[in-house]
Amino acid sequence: MSITHGIKRLGVLGAGQMGLGIAYVAALRAKVNVQLYDVSPEQLDKGLKFMDKLLAKDVSKGKIAELDAKEARERVTAVGKDKGVAGLRDVDMAVEAVSEKLSLKQKIFGELAAELRPDAILASNTSSISITKIAASTVPQNVSAASEQGKANAGRVVGLHFFNPVPVMKLVELIPGLQTTEETLTRARAFAVACGKDVSTSQDVPGFVSNALLMPFINEAIMCLEKGTATRDDIDKTLRLGMNHPMGPLQLADFIGLDTCLAIQQTLYHGTGDSKYRPSILLERMVDAQWYGKKNGKGFYEYDTTSNS
Ligand code: 3HC
Repeated sequence: MSITHGIKRLGVLGAGQMGLGIAYVAALRAKVNVQLYDVSPEQLDKGLKFMDKLLAKDVSKGKIAELDAKEARERVTAVGKDKGVAGLRDVDMAVEAVSEKLSLKQKIFGELAAELRPDAILASNTSSISITKIAASTVPQNVSAASEQGKANAGRVVGLHFFNPVPVMKLVELIPGLQTTEETLTRARAFAVACGKDVSTSQDVPGFVSNALLMPFINEAIMCLEKGTATRDDIDKTLRLGMNHPMGPLQLADFIGLDTCLAIQQTLYHGTGDSKYRPSILLERMVDAQWYGKKNGKGFYEYDTTSNS
């Protein structure tokens, strides 16, 4: 018997570019009700305005019907800091898409496990952090991880790694932690498919398949710039025109966020101990300078931050 995802209500934690994209595909394609949670009212407002803009653009291009866009938008409601994670109490699944910080994710998953129904799936959109470690934070300190409750709590945690821009990129990477149950994996996969995505599975290693391959590539491009091997524009042009990449690696780093790239590279470096993952000093300095790329207007390139897209 095939298991369907069985998700009618979805909680999305974080209304940044990833969380917003996940809310968008869930409401429009999987047709589930979405509760979008963020501690920042400004971020919630910005995210919902961007969703309105995306829906209007897809309608004007004839990609979706006006009624579908209207219904999708009506499925999304905002949950603010006042309600806290408890505001998501009734959801069948939560997808966390907050910053790439282990301590923050552990805190959120501890709260989700305490507040949500025992059968709700707890998914993380982490780019590189161990799902096994995140799952362990759902087991209260006075409960043994080997007990039935410990296994049940951690067994419903899974990695569901979307790619930016979520409405456009076709893949979701599915990552089981050591504790994840088969049922959780099957339902999470079915949900990703309902969102219109193809799914690849990776074991729970630092960076999974995607970032274990992408981040050394980006880092090597930054090192080329650092060493003066070529200019910024020539490095990007080489990969765009020579290898048909949609963006050069420096532009892609800006697009992902230089702070996010550094956080992922640090997880890879510390998680493997392999010097091939050591982040370049230039990347570290740019993040020290708070040059985060497209999201705040300055990275390897400069951007107009008055536009949301
Ligand atoms: N949200 C939604 N849709 C967006 C978007 C966004 N932020 N940005 C662009 N789009 C849509 C556009 O509206 C357009 O749709 P249309 O075909 O209906 O008009 C379509 O994407 C193409 O956009 P543009 O014509 O403006 O520009 P491009 O043709 O240059 O494509 C791109 C933009 C799709 C972003 C393309 O440059 C690309 O594929 N870049 C590489 C992206 C990539 O590698 N992403 C993965 C990053 S790694 C990651 O996310 C994992 C993490 O863990 C680090």
